[in-house]
Amino acid sequence: MTLEERYQHSECHSLEQIFPNQTNPNGTAFGGHIVSIMDKVAGFAAGRFSGGAVVTASMDKVDFRIPIKMGEVIEVISKVESVGRTSMRIKVDVLKAMPNDTSLVTSGYFTFVAIDQFGKPRVAIPT
Ligand SMILES: CC(C)(COP(=O)(O)OP(=O)(O)OC[C@H]1O[C@@H](n2cnc3c(N)ncnc32)[C@H](O)[C@@H]1OP(=O)(O)O)[C@@H](O)C(=O)NCCC(=O)NCCS
Repeated sequence: MTLEERYQHSECHSLEQIFPNQTNPNGTAFGGHIVSIMDKVAGFAAGRFSGGAVVTASMDKVDFRIPIKMGEVIEVISKVESVGRTSMRIKVDVLKAMPNDTSLVTSGYFTFVAIDQFGKPRVAIPT
C-alpha cells in the first residue's frame, strides 16, 4: 500500500445521536462529550493506519462552530493527514447528519502515537 493509499484507508466514519444525559444546561451537546467522541474516532483512524494499538498524545484547538441539539444525529469523520516516525496527526470533522442539515459543526486535530505491547512508541507504518 502506498502512503497515499494508507491515508485514504485510514478514514473512519461514525454516526452518533445526542442523548439527554450528554447535554449542557442549555439543552445542547456538552462539549466534553463531543471531544470524547472525536478522540475515539481519531483513535480508530490511527489504529487502522498503523495496524495496531495507539494512544492519544495531544489534541489541538477544537472549534465548536454550531450547537448540536438534543436528539440530533451527527457524523464524525477522522483521517490521518500526516505521519512522523511513531506519531500520526489526525483531522476530525463533526457534521450534522440530519435530513436537511449536514453543516460542519465542530473540527479539530489530534496526535496519536502507535505503541507496542509494552506501551512504548513503535513505528507507525508497519513494514
Ligand atoms: C504518547 C507516549 C506513548 C509517548 O511516549 P514517549 O516515550 O514520550 O515518546 P517519545 O518522546 O519517543 O515520542 C514519540 C512520538 O510521540 C510524539 N509525541 C510525544 N508527546 C507528544 C505530544 N505531547 N504531542 C505531540 N506529539 C507527541 C513525538 O513527537 C514522537 O513522534 P515521532 O516518533 O513521530 O517523531 C507517552 O507519553 C504516553 O504513553 N502518554 C500517555 C498516553 C495516554 O495515556 N493517552 C490518553 C489515553 S489513550
